[in-house]
Amino acid sequence: MSAPSPIVFPRPAPPDLSSIDARLDLEEEISRLKKEKRAVLLAHYYQEEEIQDLADFVGDSLDLSRRAQETDARLIAFAGVRFMAETAKILNPTRKVVLPDYEAGCSLENSCPPEMFRAWREQHPGAVSLTYINCSAAVKALSDIIVTSSNAEKIVRSIPPGKEILFAPDRHLGAFLVKKTGRPMTLWPGTCIVHEQFSEREMLRLKAQYPDALVAAHPECPEGILKYADHVGSTRSILQFATTAAGKRFLIATEEGIIHQMRKLAPDREYIALPPDNGCRCNECPFMKLNTIEKLYLCLRDERPEIVLPEELRKAAEKPLLKMLELS
Ligand code: 13P
Ligand code: SF4
Repeated sequence: MSAPSPIVFPRPAPPDLSSIDARLDLEEEISRLKKEKRAVLLAHYYQEEEIQDLADFVGDSLDLSRRAQETDARLIAFAGVRFMAETAKILNPTRKVVLPDYEAGCSLENSCPPEMFRAWREQHPGAVSLTYINCSAAVKALSDIIVTSSNAEKIVRSIPPGKEILFAPDRHLGAFLVKKTGRPMTLWPGTCIVHEQFSEREMLRLKAQYPDALVAAHPECPEGILKYADHVGSTRSILQFATTAAGKRFLIATEEGIIHQMRKLAPDREYIALPPDNGCRCNECPFMKLNTIEKLYLCLRDERPEIVLPEELRKAAEKPLLKMLELS
């Protein structure tokens, strides 16, 4: 297995909010800058409502990868976390890719340093490695096929029987896939700090309070939550389920940012975020929420922080991503 160079750039300086003219209408400025700079604004469902409303496209990680790959915009402003912006750069290297806050990481990415991942792979010669898109470019470069929560089941089923599968870095998504497909896999022990916190006790309390409610959950949730779900899937599929399934009330076990699109698409339904609003903001992704409208304005104005990847690393990371797109 070739060893791609690690990213050794100094981290970009944090955005300088004091350089913003307080008299500006930032929403207007963002729309103006998008046109002036031939930029496209891609946003994940977990972004602040005002960012989602300004975006040219809001989607899950698979949709966003496809949009990034297809766009002919000069500049891609990626309102999501860094691994998503990196994916955009990997798939469309001639575009400039910026994100509002370079520190917008992901606990799954943090759980899987490339050197440890490489050592793990070396302990399993001959195994195929399916890696969740929530990982660094360096880990992608060491993987055989990337998956998202939208296509993971299909991709697992495409692996010839008898072949050992390594799945990283989300152990809950991995365990869900093992159960769903009956295919044994060796799992990396990472978790998402947001989905990991949903409590079974709160789920039981809410189900008792709203016995008619249907439950939609992201597969990053632990089994103790997933076992109550009427629907398990990616953010886009959760949105589709909650806005189209027969039913009026839905318990939502994923980051609460997605409820904004639910209310826009089907405002006559009730969406209850798990856990309830009891003062704790633990159903918000602290990484996603580092992006703010001020930082979005600055990244469009100054065209930084920019995603820059060594070409050798980009190419190595592109291979398993293209394989994923081909199999999706
Ligand atoms: P989706 O692929 O469903 O958008 O999930 C990405 C993610 O980070 C969920 O926490
Ligand atoms: Fe990562 Fe979890 Fe945030 Fe998704 S919600 S970006 S998996 S920390």
